[in-house]
Formats: sequence, C-alpha cells, structure tokens
Amino acid sequence: MKHTVTTLQKMKSEGSKIAMLTCYDASFASLMNQCGVDMLLVGDSLGMVVQGAGSTLPVTLQDMVYHTRCVARGAGDALVLADLPFGSYQQDKEQAFASSVALMQAGAEMVKLEGGAFMAETIAFLVARGIPVCAHIGLTPQSVNTLGGYKVQGKGDMQAAQLLQDARTLTEAGAHMLLMEMVPAALAGEVSRSIAVPTIGIGAGPETDGQVLVMHDMLDVYPGKKARFVKNFMADAGTIQQAVSNYVQQVKAATFPAPEHCY
Ligand code: KIV
Ligand code: NA
Repeated sequence: MKHTVTTLQKMKSEGSKIAMLTCYDASFASLMNQCGVDMLLVGDSLGMVVQGAGSTLPVTLQDMVYHTRCVARGAGDALVLADLPFGSYQQDKEQAFASSVALMQAGAEMVKLEGGAFMAETIAFLVARGIPVCAHIGLTPQSVNTLGGYKVQGKGDMQAAQLLQDARTLTEAGAHMLLMEMVPAALAGEVSRSIAVPTIGIGAGPETDGQVLVMHDMLDVYPGKKARFVKNFMADAGTIQQAVSNYVQQVKAATFPAPEHCY
C-alpha cells in the first residue's frame, strides 16, 4: 500500500516503527521499496556521498530536483521525502514555497528543512499550501559553520528544554514529521512521547518512531569517517538486498540502534 502522511501517522499510533533510508537514484529506490523501506529520503547528504564535497552546503536546488526525479521513478509504495538544500528556503517563506514546489513537481511527497522554532512561520505557510513538511532539529548539518562542527546537540538541561520546545512549536505550526539528528537517546524519547506526529532519529536512540541512515554509510560504501550511530549492515549480509532487509527488520524490531550507536 502506498505510504502517505496518514499511513505514517497510523504507524506511530500503532507503535510500528518507520524505516527510512537515504536514496539518490531509481535503481536503489526500487530495491529499497522491495525490501520494505517505508520512506526514501533524497538527502542533501548527496553532496558528500555522491558529489564528494566536504559538507552539504554546495548542494543546489537543481541537484535536489534531479535526484528527486530519479528516486520518484523507482519509489513505488515508499514515500519520497526530499531535502530543501542550503540557501533555498531560509530567506523567507515565499522562497521556501517556490523551492518546495520544484521538489514536489519532481516527485517529492514531503519536504524537509533544517531549523528550530524560527522555521515555524515557514512551515505553516508550506503546509497551508499543500506541502507536507518534516522539520529537522538537533544537529543541522547546513549550520555546521555556526555550530563549530558535527557535534551532539541537546546536551544539558537548557539545550534539552530548548529542543523540546522547538519540537512542540514546529508541530503546532503543522509539521507532519520531526527528524532528530545526534541528540541524547533519552531526550529523543521524551520528544517522541511529547508530540503527536512521527519522529525519525539518526543518532537519536531507539525510542523515536522511526530511524534513518545514509545508504552509503550502512552499506559501507562511503570512504570518509563513520559516526558512532552508523552500523555496517553489509557485515552480516551477502547482498545489498539482504543488508537493506536486515536494516528494515532491525528497525521494526527496535534492535537497531543498539546502545553502542547512541549518545
Ligand atoms: O541529508 C541527509 O541524508 C539527512 C539525514 C542525515 C537525516 O538529512
Ligand atoms: Na539532509
């Protein structure tokens, strides 16, 4: 059955975990859909894993449109979520709308943007105009230069309270989904129980409503440094299909992430 915001919301209410992977082309989209991946994220991580850049900042809206079109052709029942790249939405809500339209016309069914409560007005504007939004909080890689590196976020009482407040504000603004990257597992669990919409974690522990990993990380293809939260699913698999199926099964069973992948 084709995934929609409604089926994903139902998964949260029923306590069944959402399995998401990043995807950048049609063949992997088809493979992942066949292996039971619920959502495909056309991530701006493609700047690093596909284009070889040192961060996600050089990725353009045109790059995202191209890869979204490729993924949408193979996605089948999986819901296609596409990242709004750096500089394509932060200026004002009108810019965010125009950029989101380009992604939706390329086949995205939801868009993702990075930022806390300051993005609430933009999210409300997009949702009112027919564009489901996933809000990405915690470590927001497009802000690596102001954050001073790729570090765990939401540590300490003040930062934790801020993250929880951001999650509430963004949900009230109409976000359909919340993604948390590199936050303490206990905090991600608290956020997930505090808001009505599904949460997806990466380096956020086992208590979120779903998980995501970058495909090049979990297939052990990316040559760069691996974060603590990455698991190499090729280690116990003979084929890519097996690795992806194992990932789906372990997310659904909540056996991934294990304590060694958490903060
Ligand atoms: O671009 C990406 O792959 C992402 C995930 C790390 C969540 O945003
Ligand atoms: Na991203």
